Amino acid sequence: APKPLWSGRFDATPSGELELFGASLTFDRRLWREDIAGSVAHATMLGRQGVLDEADVDAIRAGLARIADEIEAGTFVFDPTVDEDVHMAIERVLTERIGPAGGRLHTGRSRNDQTVTDGRLAAKGFAASLHDAALDLVAALAERAEGESGVVMPGYTHLQPAQPVLLSHHLLAYAWMLLRDCRRFDAALDAADASPLGSAALAGTTYPLDRAMTAGAMGFSSVIPNSMDAVADRDFVCDLVYACSMCQMHLSRLCEELIVWSTAEFGFVEMDDAHSTGSSIMPQKKNPDFCELVRGKTGRVYGDLVSILTVLKGIPLTYDKDLQEDKEPMFDAFDTVLGSLHAVTGMVRTMRVRSDRMAEAAHEGFMAATDLADYLVGKGMPFREAHGVVGRVVADCVKAGVTLQDLTAEELRSWSPLFGDDAPDAVAIDAVVSRRTTFGGTAPDAVAEQLALLKEAVAGE
Ligand code: ARG
Repeated sequence: APKPLWSGRFDATPSGELELFGASLTFDRRLWREDIAGSVAHATMLGRQGVLDEADVDAIRAGLARIADEIEAGTFVFDPTVDEDVHMAIERVLTERIGPAGGRLHTGRSRNDQTVTDGRLAAKGFAASLHDAALDLVAALAERAEGESGVVMPGYTHLQPAQPVLLSHHLLAYAWMLLRDCRRFDAALDAADASPLGSAALAGTTYPLDRAMTAGAMGFSSVIPNSMDAVADRDFVCDLVYACSMCQMHLSRLCEELIVWSTAEFGFVEMDDAHSTGSSIMPQKKNPDFCELVRGKTGRVYGDLVSILTVLKGIPLTYDKDLQEDKEPMFDAFDTVLGSLHAVTGMVRTMRVRSDRMAEAAHEGFMAATDLADYLVGKGMPFREAHGVVGRVVADCVKAGVTLQDLTAEELRSWSPLFGDDAPDAVAIDAVVSRRTTFGGTAPDAVAEQLALLKEAVAGE
């Protein structure tokens, strides 16, 4: 193998095994676009500043363009036994091809500012893609909420039937969560959006670099004002992976519900065939595998967050090789969350809602009990006392095997004389839903209002 670019002061270099251990090429080759964009910006700036002559700059740009074409076409050979990282692989081939001009590209630059420049550019792209994918899921949830308006289902606390709600209300709860995830991805993009290039190894350089110029050429909105901060920190990775963790957590909760709702026992939804899998032994099975996988993959995204935070916690300024460990957690979190968002969006768009099963379940479980107590409060009974009376009504109904909706006014009066002829209206399930007219509540008008607000917010993203 050829000697490493830095081998000038060395008598021996690491063995093949050790070389591979130290290499990041197997994963950072993914940053080739960012790396080439940074090199083009740097070389162009060096030309403008009179550090390189224009013939060298032209040769560098042409050489990099050819390498980009080859990588794109899959004909460029990345070999981690030859090159430690993407920066060296590209520079080596460039120099082999264009000679001394290639050797001038790295003037006033270090891999320390180069790698974090690539990382910040990648983080910005990842954040933008995740934002769009999360927004698409928000749109899918809103579409289903609108399409299924009027469907009543049980609302739960402790996974016990609590109060009836509109399915739309339930779906929109996730839409709002995902909308906040979009904003977290935006914030992560902003956090990455400052250029470290020109910081060189750690202290800046003696060449008259124009950092604002390279920052502008790469699309960064500002320049990091401290060269040591620039090469040492990876807080932007933490911000992105945190946003990923939060989003994956929301997806996991939604998937958990879809899994429960898909059971024979609930039967609230049926996942589309194209979004389910079967069993190799049990012919009848239709499993919500993809939901389970999203739930399961949450562990690795959290792991990515703990991983990057832990890499950073003990390292002294500025660059330490530990920082090479910043990339895989970011890549893994991005890949996992993007794949999960796409999977969940597809499932939400195609799942069949069984409104009959939901309505049936909404009539079981005594979910109108609060309203029956409120009825007594309306007749002057203190709420605590009303709670006790209705608790006895429920206990008796459970023994008799009937629901609140089965009781006549006459029967209700055996628990309290305050129950009037209109008392059964208090427990009609549609009425129970429609009464919750508070802003943000589950009454159809209130849900229509929040849907309009959500659409407005989505349009503003
Ligand atoms: N492959 C390295 C990384 O990803 C590039 C920077 C290496 N710099 C150094 N002096 N070893 O962090």
